[in-house]
Amino acid sequence: MSISYADLGDEVIGREREVELLLAALEAGAHVVLEGPPGTGKTTLLRAVAARQHVPFIFVEGNAELTPGRLVGHFDPAQVLAQGYTPEIFVDGPLLEAMRSGGLLYIEELNRVPEETLNVLLTSMSEGEVHVPRLGSVRAADGFSFVAAMNPYDSVGTARISGAIYDRTCRIAMGYQSPEAENQIGVLRAPEVPDDWRAKVIELVRSTRDHSDVRVGSSVRGVIDLVKVASALAQARGIPVTDWHLGLDAATVALSGRVRLHESSSRTPEEVVRELYEAVFGREPKDEDDDSGEA
Ligand SMILES: Nc1ncnc2c1ncn2[C@@H]1O[C@H](COP(=O)(O)OP(=O)(O)O)[C@@H](O)[C@H]1O
Ligand SMILES: [Mg+2]
Repeated sequence: MSISYADLGDEVIGREREVELLLAALEAGAHVVLEGPPGTGKTTLLRAVAARQHVPFIFVEGNAELTPGRLVGHFDPAQVLAQGYTPEIFVDGPLLEAMRSGGLLYIEELNRVPEETLNVLLTSMSEGEVHVPRLGSVRAADGFSFVAAMNPYDSVGTARISGAIYDRTCRIAMGYQSPEAENQIGVLRAPEVPDDWRAKVIELVRSTRDHSDVRVGSSVRGVIDLVKVASALAQARGIPVTDWHLGLDAATVALSGRVRLHESSSRTPEEVVRELYEAVFGREPKDEDDDSGEA
């Protein structure tokens, strides 16, 4: 019943290798963490794979509110009064649902999950069993697997959980997409601009990742937003999307919040975006009529 990369259709661009490794790890019954910066397609990949696995699939958003009670489940308070703590009135949370059904539990942004919740997860992974107060032990059925996505730049949580998590999981690193893949994603999500102009936008966004003042650059989400904002501005201003000033405005809006500078940097994100923009699109044109963006 196993699936292959081809089954994903054109929903996932590129990533043949990561998909192959993920499928192999799941086939082997391992738990998996996908680790990579925001926007590298972790959610896209996991959702596409999970949707085609022939097992129950339970999705959980990882955040500070994911308490052990929310993950494991709880006794229905109204019925506790009438019946006491009997197993029949226990409402399974996502973890128990996945364990009992032999399903795939998929947690987004694992590094944001509180420590006591992670501890419950860790037990379920290493023992295949969790102990729930007043309910007793629940064993995982065959097929139970845990897949999580996490972002190494969310520094708050990552160091705290890494050792225990890494010891119980296989890890697949997700780096930034290739320029070709980013171009295809751009074509898919933000289509209506000239191809050569979009290629420059991708070059600009990629250059944010290597600038010496920048700690974390923009992902392909910056490409998508920049192109969409530029298209809207072109409509509003009645000028071509390739106008130099329009492009800089769109780049500043789309990228200045995504570009995170080192604390030691004395520059502003706007300055860095402008410098990178000029490197790709040329200096500000002196000629009023020049809206081509070519230097
Ligand atoms: N390999 C890919 N194939 C198709 N779309 C992708 C791919 N990678 C990223 N995207 C697109 O880029 C955006 C961010 O991807 P997402 O999966 O949410 O990243 P992450 O979960 O790593 O933050 C989404 O709009 C998604 O559609
Ligand atoms: Mg995600």
